Amino acid sequence: MTVTIICGGQYGDEGKGKIVSYLAQNTEVQAFARAGTGPNAGHTVVVDGTTYKLQLVPSGFFNEESICYIGAGMLINPKIFLKEVEVTGLEGRVFVDSHTGIIEESHIERDKGSKHLREVVGSTGTGCGPANEDRAKRVLKLAREIPELSKFICNVSDELNTIIENGENVIIEGSQATFLSLIHGTYPFVTSKDVTASTFAADVGIGPTKIDEVIVVFKAYVTRVGTGPLVGELKPEEIEDRGWQEYGTVTGRLRRAAPFDFELARKAVRLNGATSIALTKIDILYPELSGKQDHSSIPEDALEFIEKIENSCGVRVKFLSTGPNAKDMIIR
Ligand code: GTP
Ligand code: IMP
Ligand code: MG
Repeated sequence: MTVTIICGGQYGDEGKGKIVSYLAQNTEVQAFARAGTGPNAGHTVVVDGTTYKLQLVPSGFFNEESICYIGAGMLINPKIFLKEVEVTGLEGRVFVDSHTGIIEESHIERDKGSKHLREVVGSTGTGCGPANEDRAKRVLKLAREIPELSKFICNVSDELNTIIENGENVIIEGSQATFLSLIHGTYPFVTSKDVTASTFAADVGIGPTKIDEVIVVFKAYVTRVGTGPLVGELKPEEIEDRGWQEYGTVTGRLRRAAPFDFELARKAVRLNGATSIALTKIDILYPELSGKQDHSSIPEDALEFIEKIENSCGVRVKFLSTGPNAKDMIIR
């Protein structure tokens, strides 16, 4: 029995969705539970040639033996949630905690209408910040008050703890990333709550003694959308020359980019208590690794880069992602 938390070790979009989709295809998982802020997240899942862009439902959804949960600490926009349930065919297999917070149209208007949030913070405009502001004021609506959600409501903490007591595997998918944390990140250029592993456990109602593994996900270079510091930031033409250009899943904004930051990675490993590292987009740095699944195909210079990460973090790079498909993975 293993309870695993997946978390981002940089500024988001490390490819957490990809890592979860690999685990969903290759391990027995009874439950996937989403933690983190809310629909400000965008996860890309590519299975059997189909690409899904998801903001709310867990990236492990296509594992038909599993149940999907959205934790009490999250925020949902019912319109986005219901649309994703339809697209993924998840009805009957996805549940929302009665205490999950609700984003209303007015939160989106406040998010987009605030010069501070839009220009200083560079928010995604999805209403998350104003909704968490209302939660702190104790005026936010909760999922239990929304008739359209009634058939999805449950107590996620009770259900997950029962699954854990029965000796089954659980994956907690945290969204955003360590340095977007309201508490530990690059304040004020951060999201509206803590987004490290400890809070992800709390979001879904599991106590810290129940967590076995924490996988921190890093991209082989660093990207950041919106504002805030980015050590070693490259000029747009340099980003293009290296083939590192990416566009936001939720906002479509061009992501800023910089080379891998070993010091940032070391801090992320500590803040999350990581037990292993997953490294994505290694095929972008080393094209000969594209789609590879065997350890022997790793060239010497890539191995040096990986070992440098391990030496500075003190944790093993166990998962090496070599492409967007769930199956493109080397396990070390
Ligand atoms: P999270 O927010 O961390 O889940 O990341 P994301 O899934 O939002 O990242 P995003 O949608 O920006 O993903 C970037 C793109 O890279 C997506 O199209 C993914 O399918 C793809 N991708 C993920 N891992 C890899 C990889 O190892 N190699 C390549 N070439 N593409 C990848
Ligand atoms: P908000 O969470 O929409 O308020 O946005 C606050 C900051 O966090 C902005 O800089 C966003 O670009 C960033 N952010 C929030 N969620 C994500 C995410 O899932 N990936 C990348 N950046 C994010
Ligand atoms: Mg993303």
